[in-house]
Amino acid sequence: MTDLPPPPPVGAIRSDRLSAQLAHPTGWVTLAEHRARFAPPPPSGRRKDETLMDVVEAAGLHGRGGAGFPTAVKMHAVSSGRRTPIVLANGSEGEPVSSKDALLMSRAPHLVLDGAFLAASAVGADQVIMAVKVGAGHARGSIARALQERYETEPWTPPVRVVDVPPRYLAGEERALINMIDHGKATPPAGAARPFERGVGGRPTLVQNIETLAHLTLIRQDGPDRFRELGHPDSPGTMLVSLGGTVSRPGVYEVPTGHRLADVIRAAGGGTEEIGAVLVGGYAGTWLTPRQVERATLDRQGMAAVGGIVGCAAVALLPASACGIHETSAVLRWLADQTAGQCGPCVHGLTAIAGATEGLRLGRVEGDVLARLTRWAGDVEGRGACRYPDGAVRFMRSALETFAADAHAHGLGHRCAGASRPTVLPLPDIRRAA
Ligand SMILES: Cc1cc2nc3c(=O)[nH]c(=O)nc-3n(C[C@H](O)[C@H](O)[C@H](O)COP(=O)(O)O)c2cc1C
Ligand code: SF4
Repeated sequence: MTDLPPPPPVGAIRSDRLSAQLAHPTGWVTLAEHRARFAPPPPSGRRKDETLMDVVEAAGLHGRGGAGFPTAVKMHAVSSGRRTPIVLANGSEGEPVSSKDALLMSRAPHLVLDGAFLAASAVGADQVIMAVKVGAGHARGSIARALQERYETEPWTPPVRVVDVPPRYLAGEERALINMIDHGKATPPAGAARPFERGVGGRPTLVQNIETLAHLTLIRQDGPDRFRELGHPDSPGTMLVSLGGTVSRPGVYEVPTGHRLADVIRAAGGGTEEIGAVLVGGYAGTWLTPRQVERATLDRQGMAAVGGIVGCAAVALLPASACGIHETSAVLRWLADQTAGQCGPCVHGLTAIAGATEGLRLGRVEGDVLARLTRWAGDVEGRGACRYPDGAVRFMRSALETFAADAHAHGLGHRCAGASRPTVLPLPDIRRAA
């Protein structure tokens, strides 16, 4: 590929697994180069490969798409249904701070495709669907070119359906994605079955994040013991952290799970100015104070200890000069504007929360807006057909804690200078993406 821009920054801290595949000098790993390191996946038939599932289980691989679910458990569930399963590779990456999946698909498409075919062999699937976000750099072109390369040199490669996903946050939710593939609408239908029972076309569907599939290729090649050599024992291996906001060297960094968050930020040169707060887990995640950041580690328990979540490992730095209430308000409005609009918690709850936070930003408040927001958050949580509003509420709650002094001042009608600046956090234009 000659038309690729220079590689975006890819960093690695005490690990060089995925990042070794991402730092190719021309930006694209060809099939020949890939095969020099990775054996081809076995031809997928309709028989599940228990040995492969055992390897995944032994490795202790957890999903990298946000929920951190054990991959082997999902594989067993999908493969125990009566109908032949389908594998759905989730490259939706609707989280604006995240860029790891687009990067993997663009630069190491064969790593991802091998992972998808291995997953298909493991569960006995006869079909692979690659869901790729529209506008994700070269991802779509790289996947298409990689498939072409395979059909020419490895003609036994089964057909792969590549589907375009609108770049909206909700579109990456697995049931929204399945609904889009089957009925053209990227929203989760109320009461939809779980994908491992009934997914695409009513068949059991293994939905895996792109990064999870890339790890699968490494695990199969190097073995589960090697995979477990790095990372936290409860969720071993390495992970890709997308680092943005006012960090000196934004980019994608590979680190062992359980690594200290502060060290990742330092390895990226720290903040371009004094850090006021750090967002972890993207727009369904939590704000942390600089003190919490010093204690936080990139694993479930380590993050929970400071009230955070790892999620899809999207991290953004906010400078002390910015207004956290302003940033939070803009993101909540952005999230409220793109719900499926079918459940009360989103239609009423999220809209009201976004409106009240906007009032707080502008210092136009009536009564105890902080108490109202806290009450509404409780009303919304756990009540939607999907977890979309739960993420938004978690994000809002953490803002009220992290920026408590600012929230209080805004609640008294004060408006800070930062509240009229453009936001630091990215907010893609969803009208154009509809
Ligand atoms: C609102 C919402 C948005 C999501 N967006 C994505 C996404 O863009 N990419 C992704 O892989 N998973 C996303 N997920 C998680 C998926 O539903 C699913 O759990 C995941 O793709 C499973 O893959 P994994 O087990 O490999 O992580 C989202 C979940 C929710 C609730
Ligand atoms: S909870 Fe919200 S985003 Fe999820 S299905 Fe209901 S309306 Fe849509």
